[in-house]
Amino acid sequence: MEALLNERLGLYCPYIEKSLEEYVGLYCNYNLAECLPKAMLYSLEAGGKRIRPVLALEICRLLSGSYEAAKPAACAIEMIHTFSLIHDDLPAMDDDDLRRGKPSCHKAFDEAVAILAGDALSTLPYLVIANDDKLSDNCKAKLVSILSSETMNMIAGQIIDVENEGKAISEEILLELHSKKTCGLLRACCKMGAVCAGADENTVALFEEYAEYLGLAFQIIDDILDIIGDEKSLGKPVGSDAQSDKTTYATLVGVENARKKAFELTQKATTILDNFDDCDFLKQLTKYLLERNS
Ligand code: IPE
Ligand code: IPE
Ligand code: MG
Ligand code: MG
Ligand code: MG
Repeated sequence: MEALLNERLGLYCPYIEKSLEEYVGLYCNYNLAECLPKAMLYSLEAGGKRIRPVLALEICRLLSGSYEAAKPAACAIEMIHTFSLIHDDLPAMDDDDLRRGKPSCHKAFDEAVAILAGDALSTLPYLVIANDDKLSDNCKAKLVSILSSETMNMIAGQIIDVENEGKAISEEILLELHSKKTCGLLRACCKMGAVCAGADENTVALFEEYAEYLGLAFQIIDDILDIIGDEKSLGKPVGSDAQSDKTTYATLVGVENARKKAFELTQKATTILDNFDDCDFLKQLTKYLLERNS
């Protein structure tokens, strides 16, 4: 990995992890429901690449000079993402028993607790944003609007995903599905990072476009890794999509063509970054996400 990438991930990831723990500690003290914060922290702390919060922090830094200004937004998006993974693994959905290298939440606890931990992680983000003492009211309103609308898109994408199991779908529908289920949260974190920096609408729109290309490439790589990846490095089961009989970009056009498509989308994402100064880290991160094996 390139030096700058390592260095800045080494700064951002521990910062995000410490902040997530603080927010759960602050807002989830329930004497008679101790397993709720336990299950939330179990999934939050299991690891993960932290791509979404890193993007929020970095885009804010890039546009204003301070990554700390995006802390509530970064933690909010990682909570929503973790909620989406907990529910995605449930028997009624992808039925996967391994997540982030550990038993999935419903395996470590039980299904009811996993559903409720997901519910809590889908709600706490709004408390974190609303109660922040540094963000302006105007900024809070924009963050809530972005986060809720893109989360709705993610959920709509998950519905399209599960409803099409076992069906042959066209490339057009598949990309629409990806644009909702995966690009939704990536658009959210990129736009929220820009909003926390007080960016204008044109700048927010450029990062939205960047996130769209990045997210499409990201899901194609995820689908490829589900076929040719390694369970140990992925920290989740390989072959889950085949097991559920899903049409993925890789099953539709083959692994090699899918990789080409991900490469093209990554190039489009990178070209958008050329509009900004000081974006070497974002370019390295974008490239790493194409080449990743986890
Ligand atoms: C997995 O996301 C779900 C998809 C959108 C493909 P990540 O690959 O970012 O998962 P973590 O956060 O690193 O575990
Ligand atoms: C899920 O896509 C994306 C979400 C919104 C959680 P996948 O079902 O392919 O994600 P993984 O492979 O289980 O992480
Ligand atoms: Mg899924
Ligand atoms: Mg899944
Ligand atoms: Mg997958």
